Amino acid sequence: THDAYIRGLGFYVPETVVTNADLEKIVETTDEWITTRTGIKERRVAAPGQASSDLALGAAKAALADAGMQADELTHILVYTLTPDFYCPPTACLLEEKLGIRGKFAQDLNAACSGFVYGLETARAIVALHPEAKVLLCAAEVLTSRTNWADRRTCVLFGDGASAAVIAATPGRGSAHIIDARLYSDGSLGHLLTVKGGGSAAPLKLGDVVGPNFFVEMAGQEVFKHAVRNMVSVCEEVLAAAGATTDEVAFLIPHQANMRIIDAVAKKLSIPTERCVITIDRYGNSSASSVGIALAEARGAGRIQPGALVLLAVFGGGFTWGASLLRF
Ligand code: ACO
Repeated sequence: THDAYIRGLGFYVPETVVTNADLEKIVETTDEWITTRTGIKERRVAAPGQASSDLALGAAKAALADAGMQADELTHILVYTLTPDFYCPPTACLLEEKLGIRGKFAQDLNAACSGFVYGLETARAIVALHPEAKVLLCAAEVLTSRTNWADRRTCVLFGDGASAAVIAATPGRGSAHIIDARLYSDGSLGHLLTVKGGGSAAPLKLGDVVGPNFFVEMAGQEVFKHAVRNMVSVCEEVLAAAGATTDEVAFLIPHQANMRIIDAVAKKLSIPTERCVITIDRYGNSSASSVGIALAEARGAGRIQPGALVLLAVFGGGFTWGASLLRF
């Protein structure tokens, strides 16, 4: 068998809080609209100059401390982000430098909002091939760097943050066994959630003024429908494959995009809201990092006890989606 264990978890969110009342001053919106349509009350926003690698560093240090490991012991660094510091160098290499280490396998990957769960599976594959590997997985986003603050349909939704996990082939104190995962994508629906401008298909020229396509654009209701349907089916599939039922799930930790999506998924899976981990009210949608933040925060607060079965579910641009089943 190819077992993999999460040996440490951590997260980092920037200090600056932007409340719905703050947004009322920027766009025509209300706390009431944002709260009832999304469940978001406030979100964190990176300080000027604070990039994804800086948030990743905070999360990575917390995960290493939780694992009782030194940065030196790491063999691989994976950073999932759709808001890298630069096109080049890769954010994973910037993170390596900030951790004060060298000579590791370091790379960036992008599965949009599904990054953390895709990353767990990538890490699992790495430790299956290299049983001595200690993989640092970070999901880090400064989504507000690609947020159009003039578009009320999107700007109220996003926040910045990072999460991290250390994955190895052997268990440790308080570790979680990655039982199984299922990951999918459907590129035919990619146009429904985009950040296009500035890429090779729509390059910027010197002196260009950025247009709306430089920022996150989304067909909200379409994304909503697909998110619910796909997260439910992939959760059912991973549970069935493991011979487990939703009754046995101690916590469902879904991507934090919209409280109504979370409610709909939980209801269809017959998991009561008390057994869902919710951070969206405080952090908004921080894309790839959201599920990892919720997992690390819940575990850090002592909510997730040894023996607990935890189901992670994600959905994002691409479309990409997936679920991962963990046993603490
Ligand atoms: N404040 C006030 N009114 C608003 C706001 C706002 N912030 N935003 C939109 N409205 C208005 C619209 O203009 C519209 O008015 P109109 O009918 O006069 O045109 C009305 O509210 C309803 O708009 P809808 O878009 O239909 O609202 P909906 O209930 O669908 O909620 C939302 C929008 C929150 C975006 C929802 O569709 C959603 O959460 N979608 C899924 C998002 C998601 O899951 N994303 C996943 C990944 S995101 C990522 O990966 C980066």
